[in-house]
Amino acid sequence: MTSRPTVDPVSLTARDIALDDAVTAHNYHPLPVVIASASGAWVTDVDGRRYLDCLAGYSALNFGHGHPVLLDAAREQLERITLTSRAFHNDRMGPFCRDLADLAGMDLVLPMNTGAEAVETAIKVSRKWGYDVKGVPADQATIIVAEGNFHGRTTTIISFSTDPVARAGFGPFTPGFRIVPYGDAAALGAAIDETTVAVLIEPVQGEAGVQVPPPGYLAEVREMCTAANVLLVADEIQSGLGRTGSTFACELEGVVPDAYVLGKALGGGIVPVSAVVARREVLEVLTPGSHGSTFGGNPLACAVGQAVVGLLQTGEYQARAAELGARMRERLLDLVGDRVTAVRTRGLWAGVDVDPALMSGRELCERLLARGVLAKDTHGSTIRLAPPIVIGQDDLDWMVDQLAESLSS
Ligand SMILES: Cc1ncc(COP(=O)(O)O)c(C=O)c1O
Repeated sequence: MTSRPTVDPVSLTARDIALDDAVTAHNYHPLPVVIASASGAWVTDVDGRRYLDCLAGYSALNFGHGHPVLLDAAREQLERITLTSRAFHNDRMGPFCRDLADLAGMDLVLPMNTGAEAVETAIKVSRKWGYDVKGVPADQATIIVAEGNFHGRTTTIISFSTDPVARAGFGPFTPGFRIVPYGDAAALGAAIDETTVAVLIEPVQGEAGVQVPPPGYLAEVREMCTAANVLLVADEIQSGLGRTGSTFACELEGVVPDAYVLGKALGGGIVPVSAVVARREVLEVLTPGSHGSTFGGNPLACAVGQAVVGLLQTGEYQARAAELGARMRERLLDLVGDRVTAVRTRGLWAGVDVDPALMSGRELCERLLARGVLAKDTHGSTIRLAPPIVIGQDDLDWMVDQLAESLSS
């Protein structure tokens, strides 16, 4: 039988969940835990229980909760100035964008806030590049995307989602996108024509369950894009900034895109910070008034973002994710057999498929919760594991122990 977490009806947890249920829209189905504080890889709930955070805000917390360097950068900036709008310059945006462009080996940065906004920005920039530079006839631009993609929740982005739940009830949808199977370079090549301005792709599909494309796929896509004068836009919002054991997942395949779309960890888990980081020729198509955001490039976001880039410049986090990831992979592969049907990993990031006849991913996450581990299910019978890169090896081993026991109890 399942060990569903029961919430003590007179607990603070029950009180807070009841309030959320009463006053918020029900667009999420959270696990029954109410987090009140955190440090590193561990969080504490309102009733004083501790949990190992193995979701890490979908990789927004790559550097853990309350990283001292990031907190110091935020505190220092909070006391100086937090918002100017882009009507004026501020003294933090330039240094942040310079360092981020340098980290990415690119020329220009366009800072935004959430991931979806950065993806929207990349779509607009790709279309404008198509019209202004490539010479695609007005309003004819097409962008190729992959089945199983997750790029955010705006109306345009869900227009090319293949997840029925993300789309149902939200039409009419934005035209101009072609969907091809993920990992199939020939299918992608066949979809390119003279109207194609960009291929927008996740180098590893996170939301789809940490789906890793076949070796050589991204390199082949790169070659086809170059040959057809099509931009390769890599959505590294979840895969980027250390998670996979390198700064960008594209690097693992020896691929350099024309633009990176970044978010999540760029804000250090403190503020929403996203960006499109691209070659000059790509971002230069924007002119004053053609795109913008009140909060994009604000000094607080830039101070934290620059501190994040500083952490990544050391290379320590990438190396740690690679090392711990190898350990996690080895231990997770031991579980593959009758209860776990498949494990996919890239750095410190894993998708674990549990036998659907045994239990759902949600049920497994509930069992893990009861054992003090926070993880997230996706697509029925998969769970995603993405602990903060600062996790200790003992804690990582403990997490796998809890997973093994949750599967067998
Ligand atoms: C690859 C990818 N792109 C875009 C997004 C959207 O980011 P946000 O939720 O900050 O809008 C996500 C979020 O999970 C993501 O994983």
